[in-house]
Amino acid sequence: MGVFMKRKWWHGKVAYQIYPKSFKDTNKDGIGDIRGVIEKLDYLKDLGIGIIWLSPIYKSPLADQGYDISDYYAIDPVFGTMDDFEELLKEAKKRDIAILMDLVVNHCSDEHEWFKKACEDPEGEYGRYFYIRDWHKGEPLPCNWRSYFGGSCWDLLPGHDDKIYLHVFHKKQPDLNWENPKLREEIYKMMNWWLDKGLAGYRIDAIINIKKVLPFKDYPIDRADGLSSIDNMLSEARGIEVFLNEMAERTFKPHDSFSVGEVFNVPDSELYKFIGEDGCFSSMFDFNEHLIGREKPGSYNWRKPTAEEYKKALFDAQEKIAGVGFYSNIIENHDEPRGVSHYIPEEDLSETSKKMLAGLSLMLPGLPFIYQGQEIGMENITVSSIDEIDDISARGEYEGALIDGISPEEALKSVVHYSRDNARTPFQWDDTKGAGFTDGTAWMRINPNYKDINLKEQKGRANSVFEFYKKLISLRTESEYKETLIYGSFTAYLREKENLVSYIREGDRKVLIAANFGGAPQSMTLPGPVKNIILSNLTDTETDRNMIDLAGYQIVIMEIE
Ligand code: GLC
Ligand code: CA
Repeated sequence: MGVFMKRKWWHGKVAYQIYPKSFKDTNKDGIGDIRGVIEKLDYLKDLGIGIIWLSPIYKSPLADQGYDISDYYAIDPVFGTMDDFEELLKEAKKRDIAILMDLVVNHCSDEHEWFKKACEDPEGEYGRYFYIRDWHKGEPLPCNWRSYFGGSCWDLLPGHDDKIYLHVFHKKQPDLNWENPKLREEIYKMMNWWLDKGLAGYRIDAIINIKKVLPFKDYPIDRADGLSSIDNMLSEARGIEVFLNEMAERTFKPHDSFSVGEVFNVPDSELYKFIGEDGCFSSMFDFNEHLIGREKPGSYNWRKPTAEEYKKALFDAQEKIAGVGFYSNIIENHDEPRGVSHYIPEEDLSETSKKMLAGLSLMLPGLPFIYQGQEIGMENITVSSIDEIDDISARGEYEGALIDGISPEEALKSVVHYSRDNARTPFQWDDTKGAGFTDGTAWMRINPNYKDINLKEQKGRANSVFEFYKKLISLRTESEYKETLIYGSFTAYLREKENLVSYIREGDRKVLIAANFGGAPQSMTLPGPVKNIILSNLTDTETDRNMIDLAGYQIVIMEIE
């Protein structure tokens, strides 16, 4: 990445993901809404946010919390009205904040009229919008893929006992047939309709799934359920860029919009097809850190990353993307455990270690995406029974673990850590009943730690997690280091030193980021004399010309001569 890169309006922004259902409720029904987002725009502006990604607010039965859309042109009444949405666009614009919506087009809801019409007439026009096959009881299914939420990805087509349809997610999320040009036209038309309204772009959901290996076939069975992970099919799928380039030409490019893909399973050699000068998207998420320890199927097999693994994933990702384009960096999102609970050993969880994690992520090249609540260090929630879990994915995982012969206790343990509920508990605004999220009864349990961890307590307290986030953001958006942090190069520093995560950003300035990812103090050699300590999560920083001492979980951001 360098001086020749074409500058884009979004390069220097910091983005923020809102999970509307859990952000702010304004009408006491216990569910966050669009008016709640409008109410908090000043808060976000003050934090330094320039782009908001809204998780889905379209009309939906909410089987997968809005990732099952039954009308792409309507706002779901639990979130508000189209007028509310238009007001949000207008108010955001006033504050120079761009709004992104979630584009969920691998599938729609089984309550979408396309699917209803397909059920009425599977041979007709809308039947071809989906993957529908003839099938008779006792026959093998067209393929043995396991849906992401557990079980076969085939189900009987409602109203028929001799036809089945494909859903790689939940059965209420039938897959759309992207091989059908008519379907693709409908999608582009819809995307442009929102962009014409003033939407700045999209976060693109589960996009890698739109290209299937056809005709359907089996892949090696990898669990006791006799099914095969969809990853096996995806690693063989080719040609997705044809669809994505068409989408970019027809929608993103004419609007100069921003697009960020939820992209998994891409070989390094093909990254350039997705982002950068010739890519179909503006950016894509870096999930490399999130995948550590998840090699084996079944979340009961998963484990938390070590500091060394985290460093390796972070650095490898930056090195392979250098010169290609802008990654979007996250610590967590609505599908992941809270990052502080996941990456930091439980006994070391503190405001200091939370701030360290923030600093490491926000100083990287690329675009930071902060997930709601991350800026106050929200943590995973404790769960004592599977009945307390809302997330359909975690529920499917639990069932899958039992089929694999795992004890209910063990199965629950993994589900507790990886359940998507962790990220979906309501935002902790203050310490009053309802955590300032609602005056009614929250749709989902509020993390009981809201009494201690909440915005009100942290705002204005100089050493809080929140104030640290604010400083990190302002370094990227309005400081003298801005140019270096946005466009400067990335070089790993003292990579082999255990529990040290350190890198250099170099542009018109030279900035060293040094973090002690462990509880024991350590010292490190500096690459040159320190010109200025820009920011640290602890007040005392000991340096001489050659060395710096780092306390446990200390991060220091400094300018080097
Ligand atoms: C993406 C979303 C997730 C959703 C899935 C199906 O992974 O982030 O929340 O369940 O796609 O749409
Ligand atoms: Ca509400």
